[in-house]
Amino acid sequence: MQVVFLGPPGAGKGTQASLLGKALSLPHISTGVLLRKEITDGTRLGTYANEFVSTGKLVPDSVMLDIIEERLAKDDCGEGFILDGYPRNISQAKALDELLGKVGKPLSRVIYIEVHLDDVVKRINERKAKEGRGDDAPGVIGQRLEEYNNKTKPLLDYYEERGLVSKVRGKGTIEEVFKEVLKQLSK
Ligand code: AP5
Ligand code: MG
Repeated sequence: MQVVFLGPPGAGKGTQASLLGKALSLPHISTGVLLRKEITDGTRLGTYANEFVSTGKLVPDSVMLDIIEERLAKDDCGEGFILDGYPRNISQAKALDELLGKVGKPLSRVIYIEVHLDDVVKRINERKAKEGRGDDAPGVIGQRLEEYNNKTKPLLDYYEERGLVSKVRGKGTIEEVFKEVLKQLSK
């Protein structure tokens, strides 16, 4: 099963993708987590990516495609994977379609987590206080939301045209949202 989680920053993509990965014994692949590791490790890629991540901008597509191509080629993706944070725009979605087409494993489902803007900002602020993630700073959240609205949100139509989207209301508790994710996937 190849699943993509879509939704605004702070919607709960990482939280739900991690739970689903454990439930299905599939790897949870978060491009945000992969980038933050490169940044923490101080690699050349991390130093380059941080210019974008720290200002709330999308990292260029060619860099992201290299990262995702390398990750999806690993053995643990043989039975599928749960993607969180990729694709982020139409061009990345097309690149992913092409990549998955080559190995004959098209996307099974796109789970879109719907959360009101006020709630995502609240969740991000709470996480900032707990974890201190750099790009959760008030000055960066606005730019992340702008990137999401301009570039990522159009993916909803892209995948709806292919009949792949299941919408999940992200407002309840983590457990309630997860129940809904499982319900949608069983349909
Ligand atoms: P990324 O790491 O993907 O960040 P994001 O999309 O902004 O999403 P978040 O990780 O902030 O939120 P989430 O939806 O995962 O929510 P979470 O589960 O944590 O990307 C970061 C940056 O990397 C980008 O800005 C860009 O620069 C770069 N990047 C990454 N991928 C890229 C790509 N493909 N192309 C180009 N650039 C890319 O939940 C949020 C908080 O809420 C947590 O504290 C959680 O505990 C809490 N929470 C979750 N669910 C609930 C609930 N139901 N009720 C209450 N609290 C909840
Ligand atoms: Mg995340």
